[in-house]
Amino acid sequence: MDLLQSQHDFGTGVKSQTFGIGQSYLGPVIKAKSGHDLPFEITNQLDEVSTLHWHGLHIRGDVDGGPHQEIQPGQTWRPVLPVSQRASTNWFHSHTHGRTARQTHMGLAGVMHIEDDASLSADFPNGYGIDDFTLVLQDKQFGDLGRMTYGLTGDVLENGFQGDTLVVNGTVAPVHQMVPSGLVRLRLLNACNARFLKISLSDMQTLHVIASDGGFLASTVETDSIVMSPGERYEILLDMTNQDRIGLEVSLNGNEGQGDLFEGLWQGLWGVSNFVTAIILTRDPLRPGLQASMPNHLANLPVADPLSAVRKREFLLNMGDEADLAAIATSWGNLCGGGVGMGINGRPMKMDHVNFGVKRGQPEIWRIQSEEQLHPFHIHGCSFRILRQNDVPPPVYASGWKDMVSVQGGWSEVLVSFDHEATKTAPYMYHCHILEHEDCGMMGQFTVS
Ligand code: C2O
Ligand code: CU
Ligand code: CU
Repeated sequence: MDLLQSQHDFGTGVKSQTFGIGQSYLGPVIKAKSGHDLPFEITNQLDEVSTLHWHGLHIRGDVDGGPHQEIQPGQTWRPVLPVSQRASTNWFHSHTHGRTARQTHMGLAGVMHIEDDASLSADFPNGYGIDDFTLVLQDKQFGDLGRMTYGLTGDVLENGFQGDTLVVNGTVAPVHQMVPSGLVRLRLLNACNARFLKISLSDMQTLHVIASDGGFLASTVETDSIVMSPGERYEILLDMTNQDRIGLEVSLNGNEGQGDLFEGLWQGLWGVSNFVTAIILTRDPLRPGLQASMPNHLANLPVADPLSAVRKREFLLNMGDEADLAAIATSWGNLCGGGVGMGINGRPMKMDHVNFGVKRGQPEIWRIQSEEQLHPFHIHGCSFRILRQNDVPPPVYASGWKDMVSVQGGWSEVLVSFDHEATKTAPYMYHCHILEHEDCGMMGQFTVS
């Protein structure tokens, strides 16, 4: 897979300048079987330094692809990933220090499915592109000429980039797909730089959620809608046996704390909604699909027992106008312009400073709170369980394996442990997944030994 400078038509009729991974925009969907080593050869054909991080993978720090594993222009990185975790939908994206937001927005991102014996033998739709579809959801802004635009203004740094147009797998929504008559699986990735997305189905149909970031839920969760932060993945099942067509709808205003209220008002007052249809699935009655009912039991999820934790750590996500943070961020040369400085526990990310070390296999509780704004917090090298999200238990669909937790207002608490080593020269990261915030310094590093 090569990191390429390219051009891509998002469906606006003109080509935009983009980056791609072996193609004009985004990367391929990779399928891996757990229990196997996955060798890669990644050549950087860009004019700038880059990296490729495997988001969601439980692998050692030295192959994690974080900001320390730089691939210089013209160079090739050859990591071998020992994939040993449970079935899950993961992704990979640029993690270049100070450049993650721009490079990922330009197209350096892709999806990796991990399968295991259970996921392959079970009654799930598994035919890639037949009854198992991967949807990379992103928001973009297109200029008058239909070209993708992105600029690091002060506002973009402070709030993260938010575009007004939904793009699905690199094409302006809605996209169309014929599906067989039977169960259909959608794997959703919110690959927006900063936008939270609220997902629902047309005609207010019930969503059946089967998996979150790190694998299957204990059982299928029925819900009206799910809110996805940047970086989150969810898998849902649709039963197309008895319906001709269904739409997956996405609301772009998930960042508003009062999203629901505004939506209700908007719809009530003007009879319009700000939902965009991401994909329209149309049943092909002549193509029989998997005839099975919605599965009930999916996986054995251990109880997330807070008493198993051997220690607690606290993280306060800082942003705004503290002069010292801004000055420090600027003097450390990251791309956080506009005088905005961000950090965690009072200090921005610094490449040569490891913030702490954790012991392998020892459960810890990480408590995260935000000074202001809503932040999606991510930890490398693990899947964790959310104990509380903003002071309350997480929605049921977020109670399984996760590597993202939302933080706003109250405390969010996760129970986490790490199985793999991350040394001082190849530490893991924890950070806000609003990529502009990450670039601005809302990130830290830790070792596992
Ligand atoms: Cu998806 Cu540290 O990133
Ligand atoms: Cu990650
Ligand atoms: Cu943030």
